[in-house]
Amino acid sequence: MKEMEINTTVKVCTVDELSPSDREVVDAARAATANSYAVYSHFNVGAAVRLSDGTVVCGTNQENAAYPSGLCAERTTLFWANSQYPTQAVEVLAIAARTEQGELEKPIPPCGACRQVILETEKRFNKAMRIILYGAKECYVIEDGVKALLPLSFDAGFLE
Ligand code: THU
Repeated sequence: MKEMEINTTVKVCTVDELSPSDREVVDAARAATANSYAVYSHFNVGAAVRLSDGTVVCGTNQENAAYPSGLCAERTTLFWANSQYPTQAVEVLAIAARTEQGELEKPIPPCGACRQVILETEKRFNKAMRIILYGAKECYVIEDGVKALLPLSFDAGFLE
């Protein structure tokens, strides 16, 4: 049997090592955590995107007593951005989280459903995003899109 190897490259840095424009998106995601509606999990997630015209848009997780009706910060943000700015590609996506104890030291990765939505957004605009996962001690930077986080992904190509 042959083997197929799939490689993922993730850059690791501190928040201070990010470029000023990436830092702005990360700081927007961190600030957005204050607006999270996470009354059940108390896990406050913020996301922010920079669009191709430079606009920065944020969102947060929105929970619901009927748990599956809630939505993650990444999807709230992408759906809002794509609704309000349907012609602007998403160039950078940053994700941050905090609990009642404060910001998390390690980055939080997007869940599987959010990865699929990130993929759809990349396909829609034919542009891979830079994805920055914030942690107070270290950040992960994925330079060329969600395929690093979602190998062997299902996309519209299979429907043709
Ligand atoms: N959550 C996000 O908003 N983004 C993620 O990447 C992981 C999880 C939210 C969903 C829920 O409101 C809370 O965090 C706990 O799972």
